[in-house]
Amino acid sequence: KRVILIGPPGCGKGTQSPRIKYEHCLCHLATGDMLRAAVAAKTPLGLEAKKAMESGALVSDDIVVGLIEEATQQPECAKGFILDGFPRTVVQAKKLDEMLAKRGQSIDKVLNFMVPDQLLVERVTGRWVHPASGRSYHEKFAPPKVAGVDDLTGEPLIKRKDDNADTLKARLGAFHSQTTPVIEHYAAKVVALKADRPQDEVAASIASAMA
Ligand code: AP5
Ligand code: ZN
Repeated sequence: KRVILIGPPGCGKGTQSPRIKYEHCLCHLATGDMLRAAVAAKTPLGLEAKKAMESGALVSDDIVVGLIEEATQQPECAKGFILDGFPRTVVQAKKLDEMLAKRGQSIDKVLNFMVPDQLLVERVTGRWVHPASGRSYHEKFAPPKVAGVDDLTGEPLIKRKDDNADTLKARLGAFHSQTTPVIEHYAAKVVALKADRPQDEVAASIASAMA
């Protein structure tokens, strides 16, 4: 299966991805995680993306399309993949469709995570992440066993630089103006999910949408 997860910042894409990945044996490809790794490693691509990411704007279509073109060709992605945070513009969506068509493939489903804007501030400002694995926690909704420490590795958790109320406004602006049209682009494949419910309930809806 080839699935797109789409929704505003903090809607739960990264939280739900590991479950979908293990249940369906799919590759998890998150452009945000790839870009944060490039920023941390100070690669030329990371240096180019850093400013846009820290201001809450989108990085260029060419950068992210290049990342996905390469990642989707890994042998472990042959069975299918979950795209988390990509495509985020209609240009990216069209390039993805073309890229897959050349390989005789296409997108099967688009899961639209719907959460009202006013709930996202608390989700994003309370988030803690384990950078090496991409695992995220929430100080109120999904706390780690020990505050500030990853459950599985015991390594420290950090705050993302863009997880503050001001930058969130810019990220939401980009979502509404540039990413909502992607939902229309895939209208026939979209499954709407009420993602403002507890994590297990959202997971159950995803499981039936993926069946
Ligand atoms: P990216 O990393 O994709 O960030 P985002 O879209 O803003 O999404 P988030 O990671 O903030 O949200 P999420 O849905 O994964 O939430 P999570 O599950 O962690 O992108 C970052 C930047 O990179 C962009 O701004 C842009 O600059 C650049 N970029 C990336 N892709 C790009 C592209 N394709 N084109 C151009 N630029 C691109 O959950 C959030 C919190 O809520 C967590 O603390 C979690 O524990 C909690 N939570 C989750 N589910 C629930 C629930 N059901 N109830 C209560 N709390 C919950
Ligand atoms: Zn995420």
